[in-house]
Amino acid sequence: APSSRVSLTVNGTRRTVTVDNRTSLLDLLREHLDLTGSKKGCNAGACGACTVLVDGQRVNSCLTLAVRLEGAEVTTIEGLAKGDELHPLQQAFIDEDAFQCGYCTPGQIMSGVGCIQEGHTNSPEEIREYMSGNVCRCGCYVKIVRAVEQTAA
Ligand code: FES
Repeated sequence: APSSRVSLTVNGTRRTVTVDNRTSLLDLLREHLDLTGSKKGCNAGACGACTVLVDGQRVNSCLTLAVRLEGAEVTTIEGLAKGDELHPLQQAFIDEDAFQCGYCTPGQIMSGVGCIQEGHTNSPEEIREYMSGNVCRCGCYVKIVRAVEQTAA
């Protein structure tokens, strides 16, 4: 299958990889760069477990073609903490006990960062609406919304 070389910045580090043209950003992260924090739930845009930021915009990485990302800046869950200091939303998830099994958590947090950056935090309903593409099988929605709300405040 045809492949291409793509250079992009992931969590502040410039990376150049050669990938099959059909490779998703999610597979690029997980299989080529060993960044397994972004999860593969449905691989079809329906669960949000793979959510990352591309040039500051929230995307489902399973639906994003890696070869389209020449020059892009990608932020994953691995890139949020500053050394030993968690991102405020990561800390809020701990403080609010906003997860059970944890599988959806990286995607929830990346989506929550997008929610806060885009300013969709004026009410719990607005947060819930923005985050509606992020499914939590354990049903932690109330606490997830509270963590985002608390971080935005
Ligand atoms: Fe991408 Fe489910 S794995 S939305």
